[in-house]
Amino acid sequence: MSEKLIQKGIADRVQIVNGDMSSLDFHPATFDLIWSEVAAYIMGFKNALSTGKPFLVKHGYLAVTELTWLRPDPLDQAKRFFAEEYPAMQDIESNLEAIRRAGYNVVGHFTLPESAWWDHYYTPIEKKLPELRKKHKDNPEALAVVELHEMEIDIYRKYSDSYGYVFYVTQID
Ligand SMILES: C[S@@+](CC[C@H](N)C(=O)[O-])C[C@H]1O[C@@H](n2cnc3c(N)ncnc32)[C@H](O)[C@@H]1O
Repeated sequence: MSEKLIQKGIADRVQIVNGDMSSLDFHPATFDLIWSEVAAYIMGFKNALSTGKPFLVKHGYLAVTELTWLRPDPLDQAKRFFAEEYPAMQDIESNLEAIRRAGYNVVGHFTLPESAWWDHYYTPIEKKLPELRKKHKDNPEALAVVELHEMEIDIYRKYSDSYGYVFYVTQID
């Protein structure tokens, strides 16, 4: 990462910090914007909202993606899969409500396109799975990981209209 910053000539404007997002070591009101993709779920969406807030300046922004149900009646197989994999998943309205309750205003929200899942993520992973399956044929633990990925991709292929990543852009007063 730091090599890329040097190549782009912006190394003097960026500070990379490797740390635990659930115990951020910054002064209060440090950031104009906190941007978080595919990470809030690790500490829980509501927890991520409250954890980030003290570090925003007045009128600061939090832009965060969250895996979200996109239709009120997700189909059974998708529901069963996420009951195991991410039971905390909510729909857009519930997330907007959580954002407001946490003391943010909603600036806007949009659903990431399906290409965001396929182009640089599932498609390259899917290409590697047969080879990994062969390589680890005697390792049940590794095979279980391969199978979980196959299942996850299959579920997305079938039910991508039921769920997706929604980008929520929020701002405090
Ligand atoms: C699903 S990845 C998303 C990565 C990247 N934001 C993206 O969109 O490609 C989640 C990342 O959060 C990191 N992570 C997990 N727990 C964390 C923690 N407590 N503090 C900081 N990072 C954490 C993982 O190492 C992983 O890189």
